[in-house]
Amino acid sequence: MAGASGYAGGEALRLLLGHPEVEVGAVTAASSAGARLGDVHPHLLPLADRVLQETTPELLAEHDAVVLALPHGASAALAAQLPADVLVLDCGADHRLADPVAWKTFYGTDHAGTWPYGMPELLTGPSATQGTTAAAPKQRDALVGARRVAVPGCYPTGVSLALAPGFAAGLLEPDDVVVVAASGTSGAGKGLKPNLLGSEVMGSMSPYGVGGVHRHTPEVEQNLSGAAGEPVTVSFTPTLAPMPRGILATCTARVRPGTTADQLRAAWRAAYADEPFVHLLPEGSWPRTADVLGSNAVVLGLALDERVGRVVVVAAEDNLTKGTAGAAVQCLNLAFGLPETLGLPVTGLAP
Ligand SMILES: NC(=O)c1ccc[n+]([C@@H]2O[C@H](COP(=O)([O-])OP(=O)(O)OC[C@H]3O[C@@H](n4cnc5c(N)ncnc54)[C@H](OP(=O)(O)O)[C@@H]3O)[C@@H](O)[C@H]2O)c1
Repeated sequence: MAGASGYAGGEALRLLLGHPEVEVGAVTAASSAGARLGDVHPHLLPLADRVLQETTPELLAEHDAVVLALPHGASAALAAQLPADVLVLDCGADHRLADPVAWKTFYGTDHAGTWPYGMPELLTGPSATQGTTAAAPKQRDALVGARRVAVPGCYPTGVSLALAPGFAAGLLEPDDVVVVAASGTSGAGKGLKPNLLGSEVMGSMSPYGVGGVHRHTPEVEQNLSGAAGEPVTVSFTPTLAPMPRGILATCTARVRPGTTADQLRAAWRAAYADEPFVHLLPEGSWPRTADVLGSNAVVLGLALDERVGRVVVVAAEDNLTKGTAGAAVQCLNLAFGLPETLGLPVTGLAP
């Protein structure tokens, strides 16, 4: 586990401690190398006496699987030095985007290449029959037996799963998608930042990355364009909410003329009927972040705003669980041929 002292690394360790087929190997870090894990993550009692080691390819290469939970830009060089038969699950962004131009535009560095994208439930193409998602392809097949996985970003997880069924079913217009999403502060990592101090965050909400500049925008567009089979553009505005974990994403798109609420609901229901981690609530029910804390579930609520011709889908997820570490464990299960749900909770911590 590389980046074990960070938030995503800590969540990965929490989940892996409960996984019946996994033994936690080396735990590595950067500035906190040499510290006891118990001093960094007091909640991980069974690992309290482990000592964080320097992150080196030699040490990581001794494992069957390596989770990289490092700042974006740090994982590509490290991963390139790991043997091809070691499963590498990168929680960072380095290998998520297929388009080098989009990478350069939003991240400002050279593109490190593209790995299989770790969102098994994502619809990856339009259905052969307009209005349904029953036969639309999914990302899962690309993950079975994989040895390199780009674990999705936290916002793209909820947003992509919220809207992909409508695009795969051909029910949504591709050029009028608006997403406003609130995230808990752990989404920004554990490093000290003045805008994340308790005194700045408690009792206040604030937007950031406004104006189409947030780095998750091209990832969401990539996912929705794949589902639609045509380019989809997205206006995305993230906000910071006074809570440690959780994302609530309100996603809206204009529906194609004549689309009914029943058609929409049927498309979403068919897309996720067999999915253990994506749950569509009944009509009139709406997700809450508290219900998915610590859980690998994404919960969706859906309505058609008939007056303005827009579908509204609200998604709740835990940014650290399904939003990163849970997705990594889910992909580890698929890569190693284990049951996909092994070691992954679907119950939250509410209230
Ligand atoms: N937080 C989330 O909700 C979330 C969701 C989805 C994806 N992710 C992604 O997951 C990755 C980790 O995020 P995080 O929130 O866990 O960040 P974090 O809390 O800041 O942790 C970063 C970790 O990386 C280590 N590190 C920093 N620079 C390094 C380097 N050059 N080489 C090796 N290790 C280094 C840090 O070690 P020291 O502390 O010892 O310096 C720490 O263990 C990021 O790429 C992030 O985008 C995070």
